[in-house]
Amino acid sequence: MATPVLDKAEAESAASPYITVTFRIRRFNPEVSAEATWEDFQLEIDPKERVLDGLHKIKWDLDGTLTFRRSCAHGICGSDAMRINGKNRLACKTLIKDINPEKPITIEAIKGLTVLKDLVVDMDPFFQAYRDVMPFLISHDKNEPTRERLQSAEDRERFDDTTKCILCAACTSSCPVFWNDGQYFGPAAIVNAHRFIFDSRDDAAEQRLEILNDKDGVWRCRTTFNCTDACPRGIEVTKAIQEVKRALITRRF
Ligand code: SF4
Ligand code: FES
Repeated sequence: MATPVLDKAEAESAASPYITVTFRIRRFNPEVSAEATWEDFQLEIDPKERVLDGLHKIKWDLDGTLTFRRSCAHGICGSDAMRINGKNRLACKTLIKDINPEKPITIEAIKGLTVLKDLVVDMDPFFQAYRDVMPFLISHDKNEPTRERLQSAEDRERFDDTTKCILCAACTSSCPVFWNDGQYFGPAAIVNAHRFIFDSRDDAAEQRLEILNDKDGVWRCRTTFNCTDACPRGIEVTKAIQEVKRALITRRF
């Protein structure tokens, strides 16, 4: 039987990893219009590349006005959380092949925070809630130790999960309570309070619990699990919130 022979164009196409995808991006520029609009961009991209790579191609080759945040490009800095196909994700951790590239890929800013331009939101309320829970070690010990403060492996394990937070806001901005009322501290602030409340070296758990006992604190959580689903670090966010609620009732931590 004769071996099928590809013509030159077919051979090139078979060898090329590139596919054509449509990025459908929600654009907003308050200097141009008070209304946000969707804009489509077609790009050639390897499906093994990430959404962030596609955004870079648009910014560098097609439209330099496209505005988004990113820094590390490796899932560490937490600056490129956005809604991709309706779900909060990090653009630098989302592969094109995993998000149905046959259809337009929708990309918009995370919800619940004021959009400043395109995919960039005002993070001030988010970081204010973070600051409010005092995310640092507080010791009432008058004698400063001369060496590191030791703790057992079991004590360290108690808050290991919540140390992984990169403050991307994917959890808080996926929470319906936060969407409806931006006063709620939100999951990320509670996760970062948890990280110190359950740290055996810290002496301010009671203070942090009282802060979260506020009307805008943990009791606003409706246990929807959106936050846990959204977290790119795999933190059990809802579980951490439940543990803080329990500590408020039992005063054991
Ligand atoms: S808990 Fe997860 S989703 Fe929330 S800010 Fe931290 S890393 Fe992001
Ligand atoms: S760019 Fe740093 S987490 Fe994505």
